[in-house]
Amino acid sequence: MNESYVIQSMYDYFQLKGKTAIVTGAGNGIGKGIAEMLASLGVNVVACDIEGDSVENTAKEVAEKGGIIRAVHCDVSNMDDVDRSIQTALDVFGGLDILVNNAAGCGGGVKLDNMTDQEWDRLINLNLTCVYKFIMRVLPIMRKQHSGKIVNISSGAAITGDWSDPHYAAAKGGVISLGRELAVELSKDGIYINTIAPGLIRTRMVLPWESVEANNILVGRLGEPRDVAATVAFLASAASDFYTGQVLCPNGGSWMY
Ligand SMILES: NC(=O)c1ccc[n+]([C@@H]2O[C@H](COP(=O)([O-])OP(=O)(O)OC[C@H]3O[C@@H](n4cnc5c(N)ncnc54)[C@H](O)[C@@H]3O)[C@@H](O)[C@H]2O)c1
Repeated sequence: MNESYVIQSMYDYFQLKGKTAIVTGAGNGIGKGIAEMLASLGVNVVACDIEGDSVENTAKEVAEKGGIIRAVHCDVSNMDDVDRSIQTALDVFGGLDILVNNAAGCGGGVKLDNMTDQEWDRLINLNLTCVYKFIMRVLPIMRKQHSGKIVNISSGAAITGDWSDPHYAAAKGGVISLGRELAVELSKDGIYINTIAPGLIRTRMVLPWESVEANNILVGRLGEPRDVAATVAFLASAASDFYTGQVLCPNGGSWMY
């Protein structure tokens, strides 16, 4: 096998090297996995997270392996933080090609009987409205360059109906619908937007009693952050140029959508 032919083909098909991505919620779990994988494929990563030193730790680990990454302490519900993240991409890397909206919170087991208006608004804001607002902030840049890839992380909770809490499921369903609607509006601008609805992925968000058997995972294991990250890498790359408005479900066969 000709090693350089294989490596060159990867560059040609995926065309990720030298692109710049913002990844939200990159301090832990799936977002960290996404930042690691994109950086390993040659993407300049702006890693954002609200939580403590988490995103600096992600950046340190990635940089030690040779990746190009900047950490930004960013609360996605704070528009000044969002603007600062975008400005970091422009100032440090000279552009912005990819946005991965991964940051989210969980419902914490709140069902209708103990739901409050405040709790409903909190999660809909974080898990849906913030996704919309981040997209609105990057659109002028992507429209001007007539290209861009947006990947939003939804959840199986949007699809299966027995997986989560009402406000979490509703927000994640909204993320899917938003992606479809924006795909229609943005394709003329060369901006492609797709959604990932993962199954059970081994992060701190997964509850201790959730299991392969309980979730009917056909491949016989829980997902790992890299399983979602690989789907993001594909959707962020030129290899997915015939995809927009789609939902991909890395879920080990838990359900078929
Ligand atoms: N783990 C699963 O099984 C699973 C399944 C389906 C979907 N998801 C989705 O995957 C994504 C990542 O989840 P995870 O399992 O890695 O959870 P996680 O809690 O490990 O990571 C979420 C990250 O988002 C960050 N975050 C939270 N609020 C933020 C804010 N306001 N601003 C910036 N960052 C913020 C957190 O600090 C954390 O680092 C979420 O969108 C989640 O809904 C997870």
